[in-house]
Amino acid sequence: MNGGTLVIKIAGIDVGNDSVKLVIDGASEPIVVPSILSPGYERHIFQDEDSPLKALDVRVYSPKLKKNNQRYFVGLLAMEDQDISELEETDNKATSDQALIVALTALAYAGLTSQTYEPVEGQTTQAVEYIVGTGLPVRTYAGFHKTFEERLVGEHEVTFLSTPKLRGRSIRVIIKRAVVSIEGAAALFHMATHDNLTVKNEELYYGCIGICEMGALTTDFPVIKRMSIDNQFSTGEQFGLAGYLDNIIRDVEDQFGHRFPSRTKLIQRIKNRDYTIQRIGEGQADIRPIVDNYFNRAANKVLDLILKRWKKNPDIQCFYVLGGGASALREYINEEAGSVRLRFVNDSEFQNVYGYLKLAKNKTNQSIAAAATAVAATTEQE
Ligand SMILES: Nc1ncnc2c1ncn2[C@@H]1O[C@H](COP(=O)(O)OP(=O)(O)OP(=O)(O)O)[C@@H](O)[C@H]1O
Ligand SMILES: [Mg+2]
Repeated sequence: MNGGTLVIKIAGIDVGNDSVKLVIDGASEPIVVPSILSPGYERHIFQDEDSPLKALDVRVYSPKLKKNNQRYFVGLLAMEDQDISELEETDNKATSDQALIVALTALAYAGLTSQTYEPVEGQTTQAVEYIVGTGLPVRTYAGFHKTFEERLVGEHEVTFLSTPKLRGRSIRVIIKRAVVSIEGAAALFHMATHDNLTVKNEELYYGCIGICEMGALTTDFPVIKRMSIDNQFSTGEQFGLAGYLDNIIRDVEDQFGHRFPSRTKLIQRIKNRDYTIQRIGEGQADIRPIVDNYFNRAANKVLDLILKRWKKNPDIQCFYVLGGGASALREYINEEAGSVRLRFVNDSEFQNVYGYLKLAKNKTNQSIAAAATAVAATTEQE
């Protein structure tokens, strides 16, 4: 197949330990898929789910996977499963099969549901081509960005099984190019630039900015000066919000006998500020004090690390707290911070992925520009 009729899509994809976030150039809303898997099987369906994202049931083939051609329930469908697998501190998203499976499922879903697709006649399997921007934590970047790029680039295939609206459909996901950058740094690039990549905020673009980007398993502290990452002062920590969520789940179970099957399920409650749980035998219980306890501890730890970093590098003009961890802990951190001003933004868990998309576009423009220059040069020589 020559793929001549395919339009290459440019996408930003944040392969998070908590959730994969995907934005396609030109689409308005990001696609979010929780990073959880369980083994797939023929399930009894009494009523179809109202959206494909609620029931991603896939078989994934990729030369990059250690275990190939397996069936999985991905994201929300896996959320309540007994045999669920969530990512752990020891997982590395550059090498993990789980991370790649969730990422490919999201890219396949976007490929099948986007309007720009035109079916090619005589082709049984559809295909979608991507240039993707993505990223790794500060401390993983140097050692693994090549590995991550090589794992993503290539041809993969995803078949949807019992997924409503996509039942039985297969799509080849062809990743032409992957531009890997650094978590937190990409978020700042997004905040400092317009969609057409011109400077939006001079202070951020030309200044020395501290970032604390708290994810599920890692917290990154890049320091960025005039849009370049400072090698000496940028670091990362191997902890995130997930450890605190696991503690909350354990304490709730010990105290009330109510077990949250996954972190995703707990965070849904916290996001909705719904702290009342049902107890077996019709009682109810308030989990707010347990949440407050652990979130206060997390906030203290984060604040402590930020202040240490800032002391070490007094050139830093301002500090942004980003990532889903910032959304969860904002009020707790602000309360602790007193007169120290820290900056928060809305939708902080999506800042990276928008940055990845812009960086992929930036690179693509550069290579288009480079190709144009090269073409011009050869034409002149002729
Ligand atoms: N709006 C929100 N309110 C409260 N908590 C949130 C919100 N958004 C995300 N979280 C939680 O914050 C944590 C970090 O989310 P985030 O999406 O930044 O992680 P990730 O990028 O998937 O993980 P990592 O960066 O470690 O790979 C998760 O536990 C998530 O459930
Ligand atoms: Mg993250």
